Amino acid sequence: MNAKTILVTGGAGYIGSHACVELLQDGFKVVVVDNLSNSKIESLNRVQQITGKKPSFYQTDIRDKQALADIFAKESPTTVIHFAGLKAVGESCDKPQLYYNNNVYGTLVLTDVMMHANVKQLVFSSSATVYGESSCPQYTENFPLGAINPYGRSKAMIEDILRDLSAADRNNQSKYPWKIALLRYFNPIGAHESGLIGEDPNGIPNNLMPYVAQVAIGKLKQLSIFGNDYPTPDGTGIRDYIHVVDLVKGHINAIAALNSESYKCGGCNAYNLGTGKGYSVLEIIDAFQKVTGKPINYKIAPRRSGDLAECFANPELALKELNWKVEKDLHDMVTDTWNWQTKNPQGYI
Ligand SMILES: NC(=O)c1ccc[n+]([C@@H]2O[C@H](COP(=O)([O-])OP(=O)(O)OC[C@H]3O[C@@H](n4cnc5c(N)ncnc54)[C@H](O)[C@@H]3O)[C@@H](O)[C@H]2O)c1
Repeated sequence: MNAKTILVTGGAGYIGSHACVELLQDGFKVVVVDNLSNSKIESLNRVQQITGKKPSFYQTDIRDKQALADIFAKESPTTVIHFAGLKAVGESCDKPQLYYNNNVYGTLVLTDVMMHANVKQLVFSSSATVYGESSCPQYTENFPLGAINPYGRSKAMIEDILRDLSAADRNNQSKYPWKIALLRYFNPIGAHESGLIGEDPNGIPNNLMPYVAQVAIGKLKQLSIFGNDYPTPDGTGIRDYIHVVDLVKGHINAIAALNSESYKCGGCNAYNLGTGKGYSVLEIIDAFQKVTGKPINYKIAPRRSGDLAECFANPELALKELNWKVEKDLHDMVTDTWNWQTKNPQGYI
C-alpha cells in the first residue's frame, strides 16, 4: 500500500479518470483538480463505483493561482500528474489564444504553485503531435520536434518550459531538483473493462475510435476516411493505438521511476507511450465490425492536410527506464470501447 497523495489535474476527463482508478487501486490518495470544461463529475462517481474509494475533488481552473495554492497547502501532494488541457487540433487552429492560454499559461501557473509548495515531481501529458515529419514512421524520443498546429505547439512549448525548469535546477545544483517525465502519448482508445468509464466526447468526436463507435450504435450516419491513396498496404493512414488502461499504467511506472535512484539528481525526460505497432483505418473498421457484428458505413474523402501516411512509436525507452510495456491488444481496445458505448449510449448523463 502507498499512502502518497497524487494531485491529478484534469482527473475528471477521459484519461484522467482511468488514471484515478489505477492510482486508487494501487493505494495512492488522489486529489482531482478539474474545471469540468470538457468533462462531467459523474466520471468521478463512476471511479468510486469501480474502486470503492473517492478521490478528493476541487472544481477549480488550474489558472486560478490562489485557489490552486490553497489546494496544495491543504492536501500536501508529493507528485502531480498534469492532464488538464484542451486537446482538439481543429479548434486549436480556430482559437490559438485559447489553447496557449489554457495549456501553456495553465502549466506556468501550476509549476509556479508547485515550486512555492516545494512539490517538484511532475508527470506531464505530452503527445506524439510534438514530433515533426520524419522519413522513418517509427518515432524515437530523440527525433526532431516540429509540431504543425497550435495544439501540438502548446505541448511542445510546455515540454520546453519543463526542460528549462529542470536545467535551471541542474545549473544551480539545487538540493531538491525537479523530477519530470514527459509522456508522449500516441492514440489512446478503449475504456475500463467495467464499461463504467470511457471517452465521452462533446459533440461530434474528433478521433477515429469514438467516431466508429457512434456510427456502429447509429448516433452518426457515416464515417469519412480521409485518403485511401497513402503509400500503406491498404492505402489508408496507419497509427499506433494504445489502450487507455495500458497508457495510465505508464504514469504509475513513471511515478515509481521519478522516486528511484535514477532520478536522484533530478531530470526531465521524454518517453513514448505507444504499442510500437500501427493499424490502418480499414484494419480498425474491420476489427470493430468483427467484435460488434455491425457493419460500419464509411466513405472515402480527400486527404486532410498535415496527416501523415504512417506514424507509430518506438516504445523501447519506456520499457528500459520505466519498466513499462503494453498488455492489451486491438481486440481488447475494440471490445472495451464497444462495452462502454453500449452501456452509455449518451455518454455520462
Ligand atoms: N486523448 C488523446 O487522444 C490524447 C493524446 C495525446 C495527449 N493527450 C493529452 O492528455 C490529456 C488528457 O486528455 P483527455 O483525452 O483525457 O482529455 P479530456 O478533455 O477528456 O480531459 C482533460 C480534462 O482537463 C480539464 N481541463 C481542461 N482545462 C482545464 C483547466 N484550465 N483547469 C482545470 N481543468 C481543465 C477538462 O475539463 C477535462 O476534464 C490532455 O492534456 C491531452 O492533451 C490526449
